[in-house]
Amino acid sequence: MADPHPLDPATAAEYLAGREIVVAAGLLSEPVRFAYYGLEEPPKDEVLAADGTPDRRLRAFLINTETGESADVVVSLTERRVVSEHRLDTKTDGQLPIVDSDFGVVEEVVRADPGWQAAMARRGLTDMSKLRIAPITAGAYGPGADDQRRMVRVLAFVQAREHDLAWAHPVDGVTAYVDLVEKRVFKVVDEFTLPVPAESGDYDDPAVRGPQRTTLKPIEITQPEGPSFTLDGNLLRWQDWSMRVGFDLREGLTLHQIALASRPVIYRASVPEMVVPYGDPRFRYWQAYFDTGEYLVGKWVNSLEFGCDCLGEIAYLDATVTDDTGEPRVVGNAICVHEEDSGILWKHTDIFNGSAQSRRQRRLVVSYFTTVGNYDYGFYWYFYLDGTIECEVKMTGVLFTSGYYGQPYAAEVAPGLGAPVHQHLFSARLDMTVDGLANAVEEVDYCGLPIGPDNPYGNAIARQVTRLASESRAARRADASRGRTWRVISTSRTNRFGQPTAYTLYPEAAPALLADPGAPLAARAGFAASHLWVTRYDPAHRYPAGDFVNQNPGGAGLPAFVAGDSDIDGADIVVWHTFGPVHFPRPEDWPVMPVTRCGFTLKPAGFFDRNPTLDIPPPAPHCHPG
Ligand code: CO
Repeated sequence: MADPHPLDPATAAEYLAGREIVVAAGLLSEPVRFAYYGLEEPPKDEVLAADGTPDRRLRAFLINTETGESADVVVSLTERRVVSEHRLDTKTDGQLPIVDSDFGVVEEVVRADPGWQAAMARRGLTDMSKLRIAPITAGAYGPGADDQRRMVRVLAFVQAREHDLAWAHPVDGVTAYVDLVEKRVFKVVDEFTLPVPAESGDYDDPAVRGPQRTTLKPIEITQPEGPSFTLDGNLLRWQDWSMRVGFDLREGLTLHQIALASRPVIYRASVPEMVVPYGDPRFRYWQAYFDTGEYLVGKWVNSLEFGCDCLGEIAYLDATVTDDTGEPRVVGNAICVHEEDSGILWKHTDIFNGSAQSRRQRRLVVSYFTTVGNYDYGFYWYFYLDGTIECEVKMTGVLFTSGYYGQPYAAEVAPGLGAPVHQHLFSARLDMTVDGLANAVEEVDYCGLPIGPDNPYGNAIARQVTRLASESRAARRADASRGRTWRVISTSRTNRFGQPTAYTLYPEAAPALLADPGAPLAARAGFAASHLWVTRYDPAHRYPAGDFVNQNPGGAGLPAFVAGDSDIDGADIVVWHTFGPVHFPRPEDWPVMPVTRCGFTLKPAGFFDRNPTLDIPPPAPHCHPG
């Protein structure tokens, strides 16, 4: 078999080979688990170098589940040796992500804990087998003695029948704190009692959903000559686009070396962090998950089903993930690749020459879905004929619930059932290479000018362009009132107008992190305080909230990356974009939530000299009577 491309995901055979190296180095005794295991991508210069193949490496986070000792280990498959081993000081570095075996431990110790049982008994709940336990990452809220444990906090739900929807029946007012190393409940916080909401949320139950409608006729999407893309291993080509598709246990889908018309646009694109901070200040003030850094979104990737999850001429890629023993598991049909009609591309009926033309837009879709606890997230990347790139996250699944008694921080979604307000804040990492490595970023605002000698009727609209010269000045917020965008320009190539070729980032401009800047969460989710960050490329800067997000004391990730305030004008830069909605739930979001979308758009802006789609033919011969 041919050598893998340096950016191809690790294979099952490679994970096993890497595991053998870890074993041979004596790092994998019985209680040690893999909290993360994935490809250690070579630095960009090694990949782009014309000669030679970079060393093939894997990175493993290893935790001794009996002592809590944690290590970040890199092994070389090429040299069959451990390349580096960093022992974490978990008090300052943070904790490794939750591992698979933690879930079983938590369930067992919580159910068996007398304090917890007593708290449940006070609520009339005595059958522990009917309680569903949701272990939630703990953050860092003090007291120090708590923060220094490897711990989770636990909320409970009642699932009285086998097929009941447990999320409909939260047990509010009480939480158990579990030490994952000592494997015991060390604290039960019991603040108040509310009745457990009774109404069923079981949307599979005909008594809840009613009879299914029979009025929808079939929609079938056929491409009799097949799709217009090709997949050669992980190399995807469609029209003028090319890219390599990757997948990672932590980040999920990764896209590499995205090029258009053989010109580089993005060296690497992914969504390497997300945080879902809840806005309920009561005893659950700590509820905020970093789904990527704490739970690893790639681990929970769905296997997609043709005709159910995807319509059309679909090509699937499998994903190889690993369990906490480092054993690989192939998830079939994990990544969906297909082509979609996307309505009108351009259209004009000319009133002078009578030309009546219409062209149809298409997009290439690369996507996957993951289930993290109650929520399901679909990550979709779209590539259009006109050079537009979109990233869209589809949010669905079931709301995280509480009791409801009129508190302002929650919506009532069923009688006595609350759904606390929260944000979904994603961070996209866009290693931009617009026409090469030398790029810069400009902030572009629109402003109306006041009436004056040059603007007597007050209609002037000016474009205010600010070059973001250094990292500290590039932490920016969106401003919808000024139509703010950020333009990533090449500093080495110009178009026929002598202007730099560019791609413009259009944010959705939803609020950034709403937690108080003094909140413990704000220190850990520093990336979310700005919609934009621009950093000088550093292969170690991969995760916006730092490498070790779980119980991180704060300050890691983007705020630390920009502390050196490197020059970013004409440099090899990475653009980081925070996006996502404030979610004050609606009754319509219950019991299962219709997809809500968020994302951002990148459009060529002087990348081409004119509309690059004039060569697209009419969709059918009869479409241009003129
Ligand atoms: Co939500």
